[in-house]
Amino acid sequence: ALVSMRQLLDHAAEQGYGIPAFNVNNLEQVQAVMAAADEVNAPVILQASAGARKYAGESFIKHLIQAAVEAYPHIPLVMHQDHGQTPAICQGAIDLGFSSVMMDGSLMPDGKTPASFEYNIDVTRQVVQLSHRVGVTVEGELGCLGSLETGMAGEEDGIGAEGVLDHASLLTDPEEAAQFVKATGLDALAIAIGTSHGAYKFTRQPTGDILAISRVKEIHARIPNTHLVMHGSSSVPQDLLEIIRQYGGNMKETYGVPVSEIQEAIKYGVRKINIDTDIRLAMTGAVRKFLHENPEKFDAREWLKPAREAAKLICKQRYVEFGCEGQA
Ligand code: G3H
Ligand code: 13P
Ligand code: NA
Ligand code: ZN
Repeated sequence: ALVSMRQLLDHAAEQGYGIPAFNVNNLEQVQAVMAAADEVNAPVILQASAGARKYAGESFIKHLIQAAVEAYPHIPLVMHQDHGQTPAICQGAIDLGFSSVMMDGSLMPDGKTPASFEYNIDVTRQVVQLSHRVGVTVEGELGCLGSLETGMAGEEDGIGAEGVLDHASLLTDPEEAAQFVKATGLDALAIAIGTSHGAYKFTRQPTGDILAISRVKEIHARIPNTHLVMHGSSSVPQDLLEIIRQYGGNMKETYGVPVSEIQEAIKYGVRKINIDTDIRLAMTGAVRKFLHENPEKFDAREWLKPAREAAKLICKQRYVEFGCEGQA
C-alpha cells in the first residue's frame, strides 16, 4: 500500500534500521526493486528525479509506481520526488500522487548555485505547509553535496570544474541544522558529509577526512529526533566496475561510500539512504556482458532480463545490509 515516508522513517527509527531509497526511471528498475523487497520482506521507497519524470513522462512514472503498489499490496511503499527544485515542482508531484517530496533548497532553482540559508528556509517552509495539509512528507537539504577532495559537485564522467563549492558548504553545520529543522518543520533532513552524486565520488578508499561520518554523529546529537538522509550513497562496487571494463566499458578508477560506513551512520539517525548509481552500474555491466556473449540476440527482453536481475541483486543486498529484512 502507498504510505507516507514519515510512517516508514518513524518505524525505522524505532527499530534502528535504514531504508535504501532507490531511483527509478523505467519498468525494469521498478520491477527489480519490488522483487528484491518482496524476497526479504522490506519496506520500499521508490524515488523519481526531475530527470526520471522527463525520461519516462509524468504519466508513465506515476502509473509504473502505482503498478508496483497494485502488484505488491502487502509491501508498504513510498512514492518520493527526489530533488525538487522549487515549491511549484513539489506541488506538481503532490498533484500527481506522490506521498513524499524533497524540496532541495540547498541550491537555487538552476540546481547548481548554492542558496542562502534564508532562501532555503523560505522555500522549505512553503513546501512543508502545502504538503502537511495533505499528509505528504517533506525532505529538505542543508549543505551542498560535493567532494571534500576537489570541491566538485560530482559529474557523470568524473571531469568537472574544481573548487566550485567551498569547504564550509560541503559539511552541514549541526547548529544551523537545528535552526533549520525548527524554522521549517520538515520531516527528514538531507545532510552534506562529503558524498556526491554519480560514480566519481572519491579518488581513493574514503577515510574520515573526505567522508565525514563523524559529522553525522554531531548532527544527530544536536537533533536526535530528526530523521537524517544520506544522498550520493552508492558504494560503487569494484566488481561491477570490473565487469563493465571487461566488456568494453571505459570507467576510471573510483570509489564510493563503503556499506560499513553507511551501517555506522544508521546507528546515528540516518534512516533514508539514496542509491541510483549502483543500479546503473549493475544494469550496464549485465547488458554489456550479455550482448558480448550473445552477439546474435536482438530481442530487448533478453538483454533487459539480466539487467533487471543484476539490479534486483544489488537492491536485495542493500535491504539486508541496512537492516530492512522482515520490516515490511
Ligand atoms: O539526484 C541524483 C540522482 O542520481 C538522479 O539522477 O537526475 O540523472 O535522474 P538523474
Ligand atoms: P548515487 O549517485 O550515489 O547513487 O546517489 C543518488 C542520490 O543521491 C539520488 O538523490
Ligand atoms: Na530525495
Ligand atoms: Zn541526491
